[in-house]
Amino acid sequence: MTSQKIRKAVFPAAGMGTRFLPATKATPKEMLALVDKPLIQYGVEEAVAAGCTEIIIVTGRGKSTMEDHFDRSPELEASLAAKGKTALLDVALSVSKLAKISYVRQPEPLGLGHAVLMAKELVGNEPFAVLLPDDIVDATVPCMKQMVEAFEQTGASILGSEVVEGDAIQNYGCLDCTPDPTNPRLLAVRHMVEKPKPAEAPSQNAIIGRYILTPRIFSLLEQITPGAGGELQLTDGIKALLEFEKVYGFSYEGKRHDAGDKLGFLMATVELGLKHKDLGPKFRTWLKDLPV
Ligand code: UTP
Repeated sequence: MTSQKIRKAVFPAAGMGTRFLPATKATPKEMLALVDKPLIQYGVEEAVAAGCTEIIIVTGRGKSTMEDHFDRSPELEASLAAKGKTALLDVALSVSKLAKISYVRQPEPLGLGHAVLMAKELVGNEPFAVLLPDDIVDATVPCMKQMVEAFEQTGASILGSEVVEGDAIQNYGCLDCTPDPTNPRLLAVRHMVEKPKPAEAPSQNAIIGRYILTPRIFSLLEQITPGAGGELQLTDGIKALLEFEKVYGFSYEGKRHDAGDKLGFLMATVELGLKHKDLGPKFRTWLKDLPV
């Protein structure tokens, strides 16, 4: 048991989004609208539901619409108020009241490990969450909330994990791990490899875009050198962390969508559209009539 609370959540959002070109040429991938909300808002809401009160977004060039999105919008608010559109006014206001949000720049997209390192001063010496905004996790209990509960049990770094099929493991960080006897959702990590060749993967346990990390990670990220794809990889920092501390995978309950990928984004749109309280019923009827 640990008494340390996870108060801060880091959102690396300075990448180039090349898999989603041309949509992401001038629009941040994190601002693509999934049903009716930008991707990053799903993650921020998940972090808030997990008890985080401080959100740190790592941004880069051309990403300022994220700051506008989470800020107040006086003209819009005044216009909605004047027209008596109170429900829409509440929607607009609620986004700006979600949490305390700070921004830090990553001068160049040198990799996920480097992006997380940019948050060092804002995080300070406490354990923190990392959420990759293009991984959308649809779950009854928000994924990060499940992980915070697991952290309260272990006090150790925790990596969201799922089993992927076949060669797909080559697109992920991969865990060499064994289930913990006290909680089968917890996977004690022995070793990890970033984007392994399928034949060399130690397991099919992939790391997804949800992490709880202890602050020691920062000094280790300062020492890593470019890894897979020539990028400064977060996985390499966590591998170094393993030499000092226990690290667990966490087999979360829920369904993840890779919304940073065109097909994954389409699938997420359909699944979340079907679940949407206002749009779902009509969307379902329309889908059923499609000649597929
Ligand atoms: P991705 O690899 O999914 O994002 O990184 P990307 O690099 O933007 O996209 P592709 O692969 O070219 O299509 C996961 C998250 O990490 C951020 C991204 O913005 C994304 O939200 N990231 C990645 C950074 O903040 N900095 C980086 O140097 C790399």
